[in-house]
Amino acid sequence: MERRNSSAKSPAKRRGAGKAPKRAKKTDIATTALGAEPEKRSRKKDAPSRGEAAQRDLNVHVKTAKKRDYASTIWLKRQLNDPYVRKAKAEGWRSRAAFKLLEMDEKHRLLKPGAKIADLGCAPGGWLQVAVKAVGKTGKVAGIDYLHVPPVPGADILEMDFLDEGAPEKLKELLGGPADVVLSDMAAPTTGHRSTDHLRIVALAEAALDYAEDVLAPGGAFVCKVFAGGAEGDILTRLKQNFESVKHVKPKASRSGSAEKYVVATGFRGRA
Ligand SMILES: C[S@@+](CC[C@H](N)C(=O)[O-])C[C@H]1O[C@@H](n2cnc3c(N)ncnc32)[C@H](O)[C@@H]1O
Repeated sequence: MERRNSSAKSPAKRRGAGKAPKRAKKTDIATTALGAEPEKRSRKKDAPSRGEAAQRDLNVHVKTAKKRDYASTIWLKRQLNDPYVRKAKAEGWRSRAAFKLLEMDEKHRLLKPGAKIADLGCAPGGWLQVAVKAVGKTGKVAGIDYLHVPPVPGADILEMDFLDEGAPEKLKELLGGPADVVLSDMAAPTTGHRSTDHLRIVALAEAALDYAEDVLAPGGAFVCKVFAGGAEGDILTRLKQNFESVKHVKPKASRSGSAEKYVVATGFRGRA
C-alpha cells in the first residue's frame, strides 16, 4: 500500500475526527539528545508502532555490492528502512537503543536527577546520552564496554571487558558511591550455536546482577537485557528475592523479530 501521499487521511486523523486534540504528554527527558524539541512533536512524538512502521514508506533498496556479502546487504537494508534508526539520527542519539531506555524510563521512572547510574555494555553510547540527560549535573554516569565509545560529555567510560577480573571494581570506583540504577544492555555476538549463545546470555545477565547486588543502594533499580523466555531459573529467583518488583518489558523500539526483552527490577531491598 502506498502511504507516501500526505493528503490521505491517517488512521489517527480518522479516529480523532470530531474530538478535541489531545496534548502530547511531557516526559522528563522529552527532548532530543541535541537538546532541541524533536521535529513535529504531537502525533510523531514517538516513533511509529511496529504495525505502522511495517507499512511506512521506508523501502530503500540496497544493491549487493561486490565486496558486501548477502548477510551484510540484509543488515544494511534493515538499517536503512528502520524508522528508529532514522529518528535516532535526526535527534542526535548514538543508537536506536536510546528509544528503548527512554520508553522504559517513561514507564518505570528509573532515571532521576542527581542519580548515580552504571551502564554495562554502553557502546556506542545511546543509553549513556539518555542517562546523562536525565541525571543532570548533580548526577553521575559511568559506562563500560570492550568496544571504543567516543566520549559522551558528562559520562565516564571504561574501555574494558566487564567479565575481566577487576572490571566491576574499576567501574564501582568511577561511580564513587552506591548506584541508584544499574543498566545492562550487554549482548555478546551470536555464534549461531543455540546452547552456546544461551549460556553466554545467561552469563552476562548473571554478572550484571552480581554487580547490581553489590553496588545498588537500597531502593535502587536494575534493568537488564534478557532473551527468549526472559529472566529464568536462579536469576529470576534472585531478582524476586532482592527486588520489590520484577517486570519483563519488550519496548516498542525492540525489533519485533528479535527475542530480546528486558527485565526491569525496582525497589532493591539491600544487600543480604
Ligand atoms: C546492544 S549494544 C549496547 C547499546 C547501548 N545500550 C546503546 O544505547 O548504545 C551491546 C553492547 O554490549 C557490549 N558487550 C557485550 N559483552 C560485553 C562485555 N563482556 N563487556 C563489556 N561490554 C560488552 C558490546 O560490545 C555492545 O557494544
